[in-house]
Amino acid sequence: MNSLTLFCPCAAGVESYLAQECRAILGGEPTALAAQRGGVSLQASWSEMMQLNLRTRLAQRVLIQVKSGFYRGEEDLYTLAKSVPWEMWFKHEQTFKVEITAQYSPLKSLNFAALKVKDAVADRFRDLKGVRPSVDVKWPHVRIYVHLTQDQMLLSVDTSGEPLFKRGWRLDKGEAPLKETLAAAMLAASGWEAQSGLALYDPCCGSGTIAIEAAQIDCHIAPGMFRQFGFENLLPFQASSWQTIKNRARQEERAPTRAIYGSDVSHRMVDFAQQNAVRAGVAHAIEFRGGDALVRMPPCETAGMLMVNPPYDERMSALGVAGAGKGLGRERAQMNSAAAWAHKSPSREHAHAPVSASESENVSASSDFFSLLASHWKKNFSGWQAWVLTPNLKLPGQMRLKESRRVPLWNGPIECRLFKFDMVKGSHTGVKKAGPEA
Ligand SMILES: C[S@@+](CC[C@H](N)C(=O)[O-])C[C@H]1O[C@@H](n2cnc3c(N)ncnc32)[C@H](O)[C@@H]1O
Repeated sequence: MNSLTLFCPCAAGVESYLAQECRAILGGEPTALAAQRGGVSLQASWSEMMQLNLRTRLAQRVLIQVKSGFYRGEEDLYTLAKSVPWEMWFKHEQTFKVEITAQYSPLKSLNFAALKVKDAVADRFRDLKGVRPSVDVKWPHVRIYVHLTQDQMLLSVDTSGEPLFKRGWRLDKGEAPLKETLAAAMLAASGWEAQSGLALYDPCCGSGTIAIEAAQIDCHIAPGMFRQFGFENLLPFQASSWQTIKNRARQEERAPTRAIYGSDVSHRMVDFAQQNAVRAGVAHAIEFRGGDALVRMPPCETAGMLMVNPPYDERMSALGVAGAGKGLGRERAQMNSAAAWAHKSPSREHAHAPVSASESENVSASSDFFSLLASHWKKNFSGWQAWVLTPNLKLPGQMRLKESRRVPLWNGPIECRLFKFDMVKGSHTGVKKAGPEA
């Protein structure tokens, strides 16, 4: 178990950040580390595999590659799969499931291909132990991953179990929650962690994903601290060494070093975010408030970083001031309770004061959320850097802002850009020219 070949899949666009994260987690240059399309491969020990599962924020899972070979038809898949010593990995009393993905495979049915692999695994146990293990498609003890290219089959044992974006703390979520791994990718792309002391503010925080990920990074809380992993069901697993790894991670936890804020026009979402933060161990590190992003003033006096995944489609259209006149007036009442934020932090009262009713009335004359947001930021958030994730590639034009960076990221199947805008005092266009796509 000292030299496992691992593959950590991740969202497209995140590969280089994940490679960097693997270096940071394992300390130094891992053997054979390579960023590939859709993930990172490396050689690592069993203990390092556990550490990666515990500490990665960007990988979707960690797979151990156990076999690869040429195939032409389903029979080849059966033969290759039956040659793997599965009895090294799990017992026949345990349940398993076969997951299959393919790129350019000539096979007609991937379901049938998965069935052949399932039969091969079960038949191997039957030949050895006289019993076939059962399949459980919902909560299997063990997941086997098959990846087919045009003529190659790759077989892996999954060590993560539930996908790693499920950190175990987000039980409450809204209609369009951001995957934790994508929130972490936004933070990695922005370089926020390296900018010591820089405050972070998500003005459309929803269930709080960006703020909670950021607070865990700041407090050195490992993302996998509150969940279980697939490797705990595998035969090489030793509870004592896993406990040692977790204890070490616990000892690295620390108090917050910077301010993190989140607000949302929906008070229901703010409640969700608050409860999620409690479960994630960072309630003390974040200030959540209700309020319209078009009205909320900076939560602190020193310029920081805005990071937001704003409402972007019909299902998630902007509420608050921009939604007024679209039958969403009830949210405006909630917006004005923004004053509550100021009450909690008297020293920041000035910074948090909501705009006056008349100013708010003026704003509500227009319904274009993004141009209003840009005006609000230009006027009130000078010196801040704003990072906005959107599938709308024309967003900078609509905001009449010039982005200084644009990073391609994928939100599941949706191609997005993470735009960076530098809010400069007195400027109405932003300062820097757009750089090349990162
Ligand atoms: C795409 S969701 C954000 C999801 C969030 N990142 C999460 O992980 O749950 C957009 C959020 O914007 C909020 N929203 C809509 N209009 C708003 C406004 N004018 N001001 C502040 N928040 C608003 C919605 O309530 C929703 O929670």
